[in-house]
Amino acid sequence: EKGGYDYFMLKEIAEQPKAVADTLLGRIDGSGSLTLDEVRIPANVLREVDKVVIVACGTAFHAGLIAKYAIEHWTRVPCEVELASEFRYRDPILDQQTLVVAISQSGETMDTLMALRHAREQGAKVLAICNTNGSTIPRESDAVLYTHAGPEVAVASTKAFLTQLVACYLVALYLGQVRGTKYADEIRAVVRDLASISGAVERVLDTMEPVRELARSLAEKNTVLFLGRHVGYPVALEGALKLKELAYMHAEGFAAGELKHGPIALIEDDVPVVVVVPSPRGRSVLHDKIVSNIQEIRARGARTIVVAEEGDDAVVPYADHLIRVPVTPTLLQPLVATVPLQVFACELATARGNEVDQPRNLAKSVTVE
Ligand code: M6R
Repeated sequence: EKGGYDYFMLKEIAEQPKAVADTLLGRIDGSGSLTLDEVRIPANVLREVDKVVIVACGTAFHAGLIAKYAIEHWTRVPCEVELASEFRYRDPILDQQTLVVAISQSGETMDTLMALRHAREQGAKVLAICNTNGSTIPRESDAVLYTHAGPEVAVASTKAFLTQLVACYLVALYLGQVRGTKYADEIRAVVRDLASISGAVERVLDTMEPVRELARSLAEKNTVLFLGRHVGYPVALEGALKLKELAYMHAEGFAAGELKHGPIALIEDDVPVVVVVPSPRGRSVLHDKIVSNIQEIRARGARTIVVAEEGDDAVVPYADHLIRVPVTPTLLQPLVATVPLQVFACELATARGNEVDQPRNLAKSVTVE
């Protein structure tokens, strides 16, 4: 049942191109428009939405953080993202014009379920993004957009995360399409780019041997830090979460712009720092900023592990290790940039003799608080 792989996690990492393609299947028509009829929230209700609130836990929360960049950019509707466990215990301001998006692989996470109940009680419409047919969260939501990752067995979420991202992009683009936006041309272009994204994920998977080698060489380290900006920041958080749960190492993700506000004090000789570099095209300011961040940490002794787009030469002089990912539109980069971090964490877990599919103290779905 592991299909020839040693662990479910390896199998699930390898299944990502298919999971991504399956999640897009039938949702984009020949003319490049989105056909999300399954989101049974009427267009006039979606047009009146004045705020989107995303609630989720763990990896699904990281997908939500990335969704915020896409939703606000393409739709100009304000979007908040909150840990379900925080949201449900405060007094959030919601009404009939709020669209709450609950993201959950299992559809059974207690905090996410309670958060959506809390939202519906206040009249908000709830859209679930979920991987498990007929589970509680979609059953209790107004509408559901299923991710088609197939069953995910390993506790550490991989293919579910990539498909959550795809679903989030679809929701963002669909909201843009329904409401009309000044980014109509860009939306059409991104929909075209989505069609080839599964191939890009496949290409990343084909080049992972050096990442595995690097991971093995770091098995004795105590700490790995992750830095990113823009959508690369949640990718950094996700890379750190994977490493904690699989390798049982201290790992932290930071927004690179925060370095000087504290985290740079953690940099000492040979500490590995993974840096997710945004594309030099498009928002080149971000790219230039992160290149100087890499220089700053390297000058203080960090061992830099740089995840950068193919053809981005500016990072080469400052990268102790360079991991290349295919060129993608800025907002879609997490779909390719996360994959090496999953492989990295999985290999480190193996090198440290840890149980990959069932890490200590963790459960696949957290149905208690
Ligand atoms: O089933 P859910 O997506 O609601 O689960 C949320 C988290 O428990 C889950 O993503 C967890 O963080 C994973 N073990 C991360 O790999």
